[in-house]
Amino acid sequence: MKFGIAMAGLEERFQSFLIDEFKESDCYLEIGVAYGGTFSGVHHLVCRFPEYTMIGVDPNKRYLDPKLDTESWAWRQPEEPPDVGVNFYPYRFEAVADSISPRSVKIALIDACHGKACVINHFSLVEPKIVDGGFVLFHDFGTEDSGPYQDHCDSLCNVVGACKELGLIGNHRPHWKFQEAWLGKEADMGIFQKTV
Ligand SMILES: C[S@@+](CC[C@H](N)C(=O)[O-])C[C@H]1O[C@@H](n2cnc3c(N)ncnc32)[C@H](O)[C@@H]1O
Repeated sequence: MKFGIAMAGLEERFQSFLIDEFKESDCYLEIGVAYGGTFSGVHHLVCRFPEYTMIGVDPNKRYLDPKLDTESWAWRQPEEPPDVGVNFYPYRFEAVADSISPRSVKIALIDACHGKACVINHFSLVEPKIVDGGFVLFHDFGTEDSGPYQDHCDSLCNVVGACKELGLIGNHRPHWKFQEAWLGKEADMGIFQKTV
C-alpha cells in the first residue's frame, strides 16, 4: 500500500496497524491531507466497512491530486458535523474541531504544521475527540528542533518537543500511553494510545 508525503518506510507498519485497529464503524481523522496520498491509502483499506467514517482537513485544497475521486466526498463547511463516508473540510483544523463530536475518532493522524506550538494546539483540540482506546499518530516524530523551517509559525519542525511538553513522552499525561515509534526512511511516526 502506498501512502503520502514522507511515508516511505512506514507503509507496512501503518497498513498492518490500520488492519488491526480500524473496525466496522470507526472514524479516521487526518489533520493535513496535502495532495491526499495517505488519505486515499487509508480510504482504500477502510472502505470495505459499510459504516466507516473518514475526516480530512486541510485549508489548501488546491494540493489535492486531481486523480482522486473527490466528487464522491462530502465537502463540509466548518460548522457541519461529519457523517459516515468521506468528509473533507477545506479549512484549518482550528476552524473545524468544534464540529467533531467528543469521543468519536478512533485514529487521528496529526500531520499539518510541525512547529511545536501548532502541534501542541492540534493535539489539544483533538484529544477530547478520541475514543477510549483510540490513537493519535504524530508524523515527523523526529529529534528535537530538527527542522525543516515551518514558515507558518516561524519555528523549526519540533514534533517530539511538542510531545514532551504535552507530557506524552514519559507517559506523564493522564490517560495517554506511548506505544511505539516507527522509523521511516524520511520521517518517523510516533504512536500514542488513549487509555481508559
Ligand atoms: C506534510 S503535509 C501533509 C501530508 C499528508 N498527511 C500525507 O501524508 O501526504 C502538511 C499539510 O498540512 C496542511 N496544514 C497546515 N496547517 C494546517 C492546519 N492548521 N489545519 C489543517 N491542515 C493544515 C498544509 O496545507 C499541508 O497540506
